[in-house]
Amino acid sequence: MKIDFANLSLKERYKIMSRTIIPRPIAWIVTEGEALNIAPFSYFMALSSEPPTVIVSIGHKKDGTPKDTLHNIIHSKKATICMVRPEHLEKMVDSSESLPAEISEAQKFGIATERAIDGYPPIITGTPAAFFCDLHQIVDLGGGKTIPIILKIAHYYIDDSYYDEEYNFDLDVIARIGKEYCRCEKL
Ligand SMILES: Cc1cc2nc3c(=O)[nH]c(=O)nc-3n(C[C@H](O)[C@H](O)[C@H](O)COP(=O)(O)O)c2cc1C
Repeated sequence: MKIDFANLSLKERYKIMSRTIIPRPIAWIVTEGEALNIAPFSYFMALSSEPPTVIVSIGHKKDGTPKDTLHNIIHSKKATICMVRPEHLEKMVDSSESLPAEISEAQKFGIATERAIDGYPPIITGTPAAFFCDLHQIVDLGGGKTIPIILKIAHYYIDDSYYDEEYNFDLDVIARIGKEYCRCEKL
């Protein structure tokens, strides 16, 4: 079977891409705006180690306004990206609910956070690892539904129990296959 992408609907393209480019890591992003905002994003990938950058594509709310995470990154220029341990699956999914900007997912869903690096949003308590990022570039795809944002990594946090001087970390984090979730294990 060969499929011409030009003949596909957005939903079909999403299904194909999200079930073929797997697994997709989940960026559990904390930003600061009207309220402390937490939301997961899986159109997320490492982009380069020089400069150290990641890319995340963020869409709009049903009313057409930017999702709070996108709005907050554009205005504050900062984001803290937490990796998600399996025990946090339920809270991570809870935090994907679309809430008004003034309501914090941290408060509504009882997600504990703690300040780790001054000048950046807090980490989610219990995250195994996190990146503290500055807005580097907004990518113009020439229209479309999502806005890809390039974030430059300024600082890194790793839970001491995973830390290894040679950086041989074995993080137990979850990722996405299509709409489902998976654990990442070495072969
Ligand atoms: C695992 C997971 C991955 C998601 N990935 C994305 C994504 O890559 N881009 C996006 O725009 N929304 C994604 N969403 C939906 C957002 O999390 C959701 O729209 C959320 O309400 C955005 O919150 P905010 O308005 O506080 O930023 C994802 C949801 C889940 C559960």
